[in-house]
Amino acid sequence: TVGNSTNIFWQELPIGKIERQKLLSQKGCVVWITGLSGSGKSTLACSLSRELYTRGKLSYILDGDNLRHGLNKDLGFKAEDRTENIRRVGEVAHLFADAGLICIASLISPYRKDRDACRAMLPDSSFIEAILLLNGSYPDYVYMNMPLALCEERDPKGLYKLARAGKIKGFTGIDDPYEPPLNCEIEINQKDGVCPMPSAMAGEVVTYLEDKG
Ligand code: PPS
Repeated sequence: TVGNSTNIFWQELPIGKIERQKLLSQKGCVVWITGLSGSGKSTLACSLSRELYTRGKLSYILDGDNLRHGLNKDLGFKAEDRTENIRRVGEVAHLFADAGLICIASLISPYRKDRDACRAMLPDSSFIEAILLLNGSYPDYVYMNMPLALCEERDPKGLYKLARAGKIKGFTGIDDPYEPPLNCEIEINQKDGVCPMPSAMAGEVVTYLEDKG
């Protein structure tokens, strides 16, 4: 029995991650970007994806907002929905990394336990996965550490304004919590009160990925 299914079997498939990676000349991995609404997650994701593309590396962005138009359209923003949202995207990110792509997941992912569950989910228990782990199949966290006041001032979609007016209930940072990572690999901060340029943020992540091979 797995989850709610009984009588199911794991099907061995003919071509593995290592062969796919060879074909693509890259290593599959997940770069998970977490932070408040308006902190610049999408800006970084887009800039990183473009930067990788110019270097001949194939990436794919899993954007929280976009996925809520399809895969996750049945989910709202209450705690258990956000948890299910992150679980599903973690699973999808795992598949993309297994396909050999550099998967860039960009979601608020406000709860630490959900991000930790994703991190734990990806290495998996099988021997092959253990080898793949060395190739970086687990997610690397990028924390957009931007002050709430700045995100609220930017308010690119006008959502903070609506939340303050009580027209959106349970908005992250206003009346729903955001739990910052304790163990992220990369933290993007303001420098002297100024947000880094998108290309500088992307450069930081690219350097990290290069250093890790
Ligand atoms: S989560 O918390 O990870 O499940 O959220 P995510 O899937 O990334 O979706 C976040 C986008 O949804 C919009 N939105 C809200 N965000 C936070 N709280 C509430 N209540 C909410 N309602 C709608 C908002 O556009 C978020 O996009 P970003 O890009 O983060 O601003």
